[in-house]
Amino acid sequence: MYTRREFLTQMAAAGIAAESQMHDAEVSSERVVAGKKQNMKTYQVAHANLTVSRIAYGTATLGLEPDYADERSFKESYTRGSAGPMAPDAITKGLKIINTAYEHGITLFDLAHTYGGGKAEILFGEVMKMSPGLRNNITIQSKCGADSKGLNSSYEHIVSATEESLRRLRTDYIDILLLHAHDHLVEPDEVARAFDILNRGGRVRYFGVSNHTIHQIELLKNSVEQPLVVNQIKLGLASCCPIAGSLVDARYADFSGIVDYCRASGMLVQAYSPLKGEYVWGRTLIDPADDAPLEFKQAAVLLADIAKKYSATPAQVMLAWLLRHPAGVVPITGATKPAHIIENCSADRLEINRQDWYALLEAAVKFQRRPS
Ligand SMILES: NC(=O)c1ccc[n+]([C@@H]2O[C@H](COP(=O)([O-])OP(=O)(O)OC[C@H]3O[C@@H](n4cnc5c(N)ncnc54)[C@H](OP(=O)(O)O)[C@@H]3O)[C@@H](O)[C@H]2O)c1
Repeated sequence: MYTRREFLTQMAAAGIAAESQMHDAEVSSERVVAGKKQNMKTYQVAHANLTVSRIAYGTATLGLEPDYADERSFKESYTRGSAGPMAPDAITKGLKIINTAYEHGITLFDLAHTYGGGKAEILFGEVMKMSPGLRNNITIQSKCGADSKGLNSSYEHIVSATEESLRRLRTDYIDILLLHAHDHLVEPDEVARAFDILNRGGRVRYFGVSNHTIHQIELLKNSVEQPLVVNQIKLGLASCCPIAGSLVDARYADFSGIVDYCRASGMLVQAYSPLKGEYVWGRTLIDPADDAPLEFKQAAVLLADIAKKYSATPAQVMLAWLLRHPAGVVPITGATKPAHIIENCSADRLEINRQDWYALLEAAVKFQRRPS
């Protein structure tokens, strides 16, 4: 476990090493904003003066050694704030990833106070420092409400974690701040007070939630003055699928009807882990293991067939499936390979028809009914 001082020292060292590698890696600070940029369709966020790309980039593994980007260590970094050392080439890689996402149309970047125990925000701040102008062209979303000790939506935590995020990110304001998950001990009046002070001080423009059910959102709305403009949930063909309406993941909470609720109340739905999902037999639905259940393999075959029909890849179809939903869903992709990022951004141009959309839903519901 690194102290903050040790970590920053390591970051600085990584920065010096990265600078000397930059020409070789063909990434320069200017290219993040000056490169030839491809457009992507956008969403206008309701109740906010904000337009975002309809695919977002998620930074949870930014700065981690590849060994630490696996599921177990990812959870470790999330819950305990420790995820091993900062990768020595973290800045070069981070620049390349953010550059690729931005050049292919992504303008919404998802961060969190907890990601990599702070590495993601620090790295993102470094990239923005090296890329003058980038800050004004993107939407920065971060999250608070969890720390190394667990969930915490107290006034003190929200304000202090957000101030720390701002320092790490080297920015004066966060565009959207989410509560990472529902804190069972939450006092909505405290959340309201924290949001007020951050909003009035110009530190946060808009607020939202993540992993919140309808009732949990309603509870907050009783006290919070600002509109809650986003709900970020695990959603996709390989995840528990609230689109299907009746599915309940007992390990979390009842998310039934959440997508329709968000649509009706003008909250932007963001779908995290849109490819990886949680029903993982093998790497994903894209590449199932031999011992995966029959229904999972059947869904994977259908996905591959539909992809072939559209001359697309399975990943693109999984993303286009989410984009096809009229609620206006933003998939948050976390690919670390630039080729994957480019492939995923092209899903913006893929439209799947009604029949294929329902065939995929039906196939997914079949394997999701099995205990994982
Ligand atoms: N609010 C929350 O509680 C919460 C929880 C989890 C995540 N999130 C957010 O969601 C973001 C994304 O999560 P995630 O990483 O699970 O998303 P994901 O994009 O579903 O999964 C990433 C995995 O899929 C692979 N992949 C991506 N594109 C691919 C493609 N075209 N073909 C084959 N494989 C591909 C990646 O491989 P490579 O790395 O090799 O490219 C990586 O292993 C996080 O970074 C975070 O911002 C939020």
